[in-house]
Amino acid sequence: MSAPLLSATGISKTYAGGGRRIAALDNASITVGRGETLGLVGPSGSGKSTLARVLLRLIEPDAGRADFDGVDLLSLRGEGLRATRRRIQMVFQDPLAAFNPRATVGSALTDPLRIHRIGNGAEQPAAVARLLERVGLDPTFASRAIHEISGGQRQRVAIARAISTRPELIVLDEAVSALDVSVRAKILDLLVGLQREQGIAYVFVSHDLAVVRAISHSIAVMDAGRIVEHGPARDIVANPQSATGRALVAAVPRLLHA
Ligand SMILES: Nc1ncnc2c1ncn2[C@@H]1O[C@H](COP(=O)(O)OP(=O)(O)O)[C@@H](O)[C@H]1O
Ligand SMILES: [Mg+2]
Repeated sequence: MSAPLLSATGISKTYAGGGRRIAALDNASITVGRGETLGLVGPSGSGKSTLARVLLRLIEPDAGRADFDGVDLLSLRGEGLRATRRRIQMVFQDPLAAFNPRATVGSALTDPLRIHRIGNGAEQPAAVARLLERVGLDPTFASRAIHEISGGQRQRVAIARAISTRPELIVLDEAVSALDVSVRAKILDLLVGLQREQGIAYVFVSHDLAVVRAISHSIAVMDAGRIVEHGPARDIVANPQSATGRALVAAVPRLLHA
C-alpha cells in the first residue's frame, strides 16, 4: 500500500483568553489516503474546525506534526509554504464571507490563477470558463457579481476556486451545512465527480454524520478535542466503538437499516 497523502500526528492546540484555557485539540491524529475522503465528524465544539485550520496552516498548533506527501507541513515557511498552499485548498461554510461580494465571479476565479502564476493574462479567461463548466455553471457567470448569485451557485464558485490550482487535497469545513437539502445533494455529487476525475482527496468536516457517510471512505470521530475513533466509513457507521460515534449514528437511525 502506498503511503497516505496526509498524516497528522499528536496535534494539540489550547486557546487561552479571558482567564480560560480551552483544549480545542488534544493529541489528535488522522490520516487521509490519496484521492480519498476522510470525513471528520463530531458535535459542535469538538475541535473539527481547529484541526481543519491547522491542516490549512491558518493556525499554529502547540504540538504535533503533519506529513503531506513527504513534506513536513507544519514547519513550512516562505516559498515552501506558498508552493504547498497551491496543493491544499479550502472550502468553508459561508461562501459570501470567503469572497468580496462586489467582485465578479470571473475576478474571484482569476485571483488564484494570478497568485499562483497559472497561465498568463490572455489564457486566464478561457481557464475561468473551463472552471465554471467543471462545476456546472454557465461561463456567462464570469460577469455576475458574487452577491447576486444564489448560495448554491456561490458554493460552486468556491469549489471552482479551490480546484483552480489543481490541488491534491481540499479541506471542506461544513461546506454544505448552510445549503438546503436538494442543493446539498447536488454539491455532494459535484464533489464526488471531481474526485473521480481529478483524484483529489478531501478532508470533509461536518457535524452531520448522514452527510459525512454519503461521501467518505474513512471517518474520524471527534469529541472534546480528541479523535475517539478513526476507520473505514462503513465500519464506523455499522459498528461505532465510541460513545460519541454511537450517539451520532443513533441520530440518523435510517442509516442503520439502509
Ligand atoms: N479563536 C478561538 N478562541 C478561543 N476558543 C476557541 C476559538 N476557536 C474555537 N474555540 C473553542 O475551541 C473549541 C473547538 O472549537 P472548534 O474547533 O470550532 O469546534 P467545531 O468546529 O467542532 O465546532 C470550542 O470549545 C470553541 O469554543
Ligand atoms: Mg466548526
